[in-house]
Amino acid sequence: MSEGATMTTQPVVETRNLIKVYGDMVGVRALDGITLSIPRGQFVAIIGPSGAGKSTLLHMLGALDRPSQGEVCIDGQSLGHVRDLDRFRSRTIGFIFQMHNLIPTLTALENIEVPMAESPLPARRKRERARELLKLVGLEARGGHLPNMMSGGERQRVAIARSLANEPAILLADEPTGNLDSKTTDEIMSLLARLNHEQGMTLIVVTHNPQVAGVAERVLTLRDGKIESDIAFSSPYEKDLIDLKHSQLGRAILAGSADLPTELDGAVEPLRQLLLQV
Ligand SMILES: Nc1ncnc2c1ncn2[C@@H]1O[C@H](COP(=O)(O)OP(=O)(O)OP(=O)(O)O)[C@@H](O)[C@H]1O
Ligand SMILES: [Mg+2]
Repeated sequence: MSEGATMTTQPVVETRNLIKVYGDMVGVRALDGITLSIPRGQFVAIIGPSGAGKSTLLHMLGALDRPSQGEVCIDGQSLGHVRDLDRFRSRTIGFIFQMHNLIPTLTALENIEVPMAESPLPARRKRERARELLKLVGLEARGGHLPNMMSGGERQRVAIARSLANEPAILLADEPTGNLDSKTTDEIMSLLARLNHEQGMTLIVVTHNPQVAGVAERVLTLRDGKIESDIAFSSPYEKDLIDLKHSQLGRAILAGSADLPTELDGAVEPLRQLLLQV
């Protein structure tokens, strides 16, 4: 085992009994006791119905908002004790949101340089780094383009490049492919998976999309602010079953629908049993 591998034992993200209540008297309990540990380099998908608390959890993990109770530790450091959260965040965590939030009056390269504003690097190095990142996301030819001169997928790739500007250890993404077609979703997800593999970046992605969750090593399902299930895949076969479970066909099998393809006849019950186990 290499030295790097030994160091992976300390979780990069940990939460203990995280509770978030929005409002006061009749508050919404958006998170209701989340205890979670994510090892460095893991690719985690967070799924669950609308209102389950997925974005709220991501905001807590990224120190964009504070929990009502409980604790978040990043790299062993409790966020409650960090003096300058903005600085900590910009050095440690990258964010990608559903709407890429690029600044419309800045070119792709300039957008990528925005998070580096505080960095002591000279302007020339910042520009070099922005070019490297643009190349990484396959858009080296688009550096001078404004956001409205690019496709949705290209804009999202610029947003990913921007999120990597300060070499974050953790990348948090909230529905990063939410408004993209299935082909572009595949491209964006392969890009994220590559970053995870090649750079060992910890990736936490909130999604409604089974296609996206299917790429992750671990799928965390939230419901009503609680962890409903937490599945790490030990085999690709198990992953296929999970994909099936979240597909239209899998849901129909679990629901005991009478409207299943006839060629599945004898296989429905065994499949149902398998799906119930994952
Ligand atoms: N700023 C806020 N003020 C009050 N309630 C909020 C606020 N943000 C979220 N909520 C509530 O907290 C709960 C969890 O919201 P959250 O945005 O985390 O859900 P989500 O799982 O991300 O849903 P979606 O899939 O629709 O994005 C919801 O009931 C929501 O109405
Ligand atoms: Mg959300």
